[in-house]
Amino acid sequence: MSENIEIIEYIKKTPKTELHLHIEGTLEPDHMFKLAKRNNVSIPFKNIEEVKSAYNFHNLDSFLNIYYQGSKVLINEEDFFDLTWDYILKCKKDNVVHTEIFFDPQTHMDRGIDFDVVINGIYKALSKAENELNITSKIIMCFLRHLDEESGFKVLSKALKHKDKIIGVGLDSSELGNPPKKFEKLFKKAIEEGFLTVAHAGEEGPPEYIWEAINLLKIKRIDHGVQCLKDEKLVKKLKESQIPLTVCPLSNIKLCVFDKLEEHNLKKIINKDLMATVNSDDPAYFGGYLNENLLQVQSALNLSKKEVKTLIINSFKSSFLNEKEKNNWISKI
Ligand code: ADE
Ligand code: ZN
Repeated sequence: MSENIEIIEYIKKTPKTELHLHIEGTLEPDHMFKLAKRNNVSIPFKNIEEVKSAYNFHNLDSFLNIYYQGSKVLINEEDFFDLTWDYILKCKKDNVVHTEIFFDPQTHMDRGIDFDVVINGIYKALSKAENELNITSKIIMCFLRHLDEESGFKVLSKALKHKDKIIGVGLDSSELGNPPKKFEKLFKKAIEEGFLTVAHAGEEGPPEYIWEAINLLKIKRIDHGVQCLKDEKLVKKLKESQIPLTVCPLSNIKLCVFDKLEEHNLKKIINKDLMATVNSDDPAYFGGYLNENLLQVQSALNLSKKEVKTLIINSFKSSFLNEKEKNNWISKI
């Protein structure tokens, strides 16, 4: 077998975990149409081709506008269940054995959808995944950073009765102009309530935002973090602390963070011994689920099998599984 075919097979067959996945970002165009019809919601597209041609983004905000529009078709618990179950079937296909998913309650509550409808639909699908397919998961609730901290406190209060289902809180949406420090009090309260914390930082935003996420929000992982290489001190900090970066290669290309995959800095990040992981972010919008991200970035950057293996092991190490579960999976890789 040629070396490359061997790596492709290795990526497909190896058990993997995903740590950066927005469940709303798994809404495929055909599913969007199905739900629009079922719920009698109008969407600004005539057919699937029109949806796909609208997926031409020039930065994060241009994507978010379309993404929040798409989410409007999600109304009932059943919709959130179906959305999550469809993603789980993708996990099965890709050999993803554990996934830690984000959801954005404010996107739905601001449209009058009850918090419980959202979390219960997602949770029921994830429970079924564990019972029927042995795919385990954790749920992370994200605050929308373009909204104010007050709105975040309201969502946090709704989440308290679901502590058994939600392991942590995160921070997503429009990064530039919405630094982590805007949410320092909210994250402090979330930690006091027992939630772990993560945050999107350094996707488009400067290294300073990564420092703030570490120092002020006390995060366990940085989501994206690819701007870190602009700051040598930060690289040293990330290397010493081994704070994981949940890198999303196809997302970074679709949102023009890098011009092309060959110019992505993942290999440099790996070579600097940072705790890098590969993830799919919003796969229905960015052109592929976890295997596709690994396959394309491996090919574009000519990653060795050893580097791919490191990335996969890093994801288990960086997950919120317990040590025994982590070691069990890592021993199988
Ligand atoms: N919400 C969904 N995807 C996102 C991303 N890549 N960055 C920030 N917020 C998001
Ligand atoms: Zn994201």
